[in-house]
Amino acid sequence: NTIEKGSFTWSAPSNIALVKYWGKKDKQIPANPSVSFTLNNCKTITKLTFVKRQNDTSKCAVQADFSFDLFFEGKPKEDFKPKIQKFLERVHLYLPFLAAYHFTIDTQNTFPHSSGIASSASGMAALAMNFMSLEKALNPEMTDDYFYQKASFLARLGSGSACRSIKGSVVVWGTHANIKGSSDLFGVEFPNVIHENFKNYQDTILLVDKGEKQVSSTIGHDLMHNHPFAERRFAQAHENLDQLSTILENGNLDEFIKIVESEALTLHAMMMTSMPYFILMKPNTLEIINAIWKFRNATKIPICFTLDAGANVHVLYPENVCEKVLQFIKDELVGYCQNGQYICDEIGIGSQLI
Ligand code: PMV
Repeated sequence: NTIEKGSFTWSAPSNIALVKYWGKKDKQIPANPSVSFTLNNCKTITKLTFVKRQNDTSKCAVQADFSFDLFFEGKPKEDFKPKIQKFLERVHLYLPFLAAYHFTIDTQNTFPHSSGIASSASGMAALAMNFMSLEKALNPEMTDDYFYQKASFLARLGSGSACRSIKGSVVVWGTHANIKGSSDLFGVEFPNVIHENFKNYQDTILLVDKGEKQVSSTIGHDLMHNHPFAERRFAQAHENLDQLSTILENGNLDEFIKIVESEALTLHAMMMTSMPYFILMKPNTLEIINAIWKFRNATKIPICFTLDAGANVHVLYPENVCEKVLQFIKDELVGYCQNGQYICDEIGIGSQLI
C-alpha cells in the first residue's frame, strides 16, 4: 500500500502509578515492574498530518533524516522538537516509513500547561498511536492485538511510563512472575478481574507546586545506578505488585492504601537517599498527607495519597465516598494548593481515536 497524505487524531491519557517505576536496567527497560491506573480527564490530544516527501530518504542505509513541524496549542514549539527528533530516531527501526513522510504534529493537553503534571506519558502515547494508525493504513491486515501492543512498545521508547497509557484501566509494565503476559517491552492490561471497589476510582490531583521539575525523570532513573538501596527496592516492587494484584481482585481497600502510600513514600525516599540527593516534596505536600491521615482516622473513609516525582498530591478514593471527600478537599486541602488549583480525575480506559 502507498498513501500520499492524510491525518489522524488520537487522545492519550496520563496515568498514575500505584507501584512505581524508578530505575532502568538498560535503555527504556525497567529495573522493576510497575502498575498504574489510567486517567480519564488529563490527556494529550495530538493530530498527525502526513504528506509523502519528494526526497524520500527511508531507503537510505546510512541515516534516515526526518521532516516535521511541531505545534503546541496552535503555536510552533521549537523547544519540544529535540525530544520528538530523539523519539523518531529511536522508533524508526520499527517504523521504516517514517522518513518517507513530512509530518505536522499538532498537540494540546487538557490539563493546564506547566501544572507539574507530566505530559510526557500522554504525549508520547498519543504520538505512538498516530504512528500506528499510519502503519495500519499501510498494512491493513494488522490485528488489533498487534496494533496496541506495538503502540505501547513504541510509546515506551519515548517515555517509559507512556507504555501504560495505551489501553486498559489498570496497566502493568515489566515482567512479573505472577502476572500473565507481563513484559519489559510493553504494558499489558491487568489480566484478572478487578474488584468493583475500584470501578470509577477517583483521583483528585492537588497542584501544590506548578514549577518546572527539579529533576528530570531521565536523571532520576539514572540515580538508581549505584544507589545503596536499589536492589532491595527492586525486589520490594515485585513483592508489592504481587500483593496489589491480589488486592485488585479482592477489593481490600485497607491493604490497597498501605501499599499505595508506601510506594509513594519509597519513591521519594529513593530520591532523598541517592547521590546527589533531592527533596521533591514541599511543606504543603506534607501538610496534605497529614490532613489525609487525620481525616481517614476520624472518618474511616478509605482515601489515600500517591505522589509522582514532584510535589503534587494525587488523592485516591472510591466513587461512593466522592461527595464527602470533595467536601473535605474544598474545606481543608485547597488552601495548600497553588492558586487553589486542583484537577478532578478518575480511572479511564486508554487512548482513543478521535
Ligand atoms: O516515564 P518516565 O521516564 O518519565 O518515568 C516516570 C516515573 C514516575 O512517574 C515517577 C513513576 C511511574 O511509574 O510513573
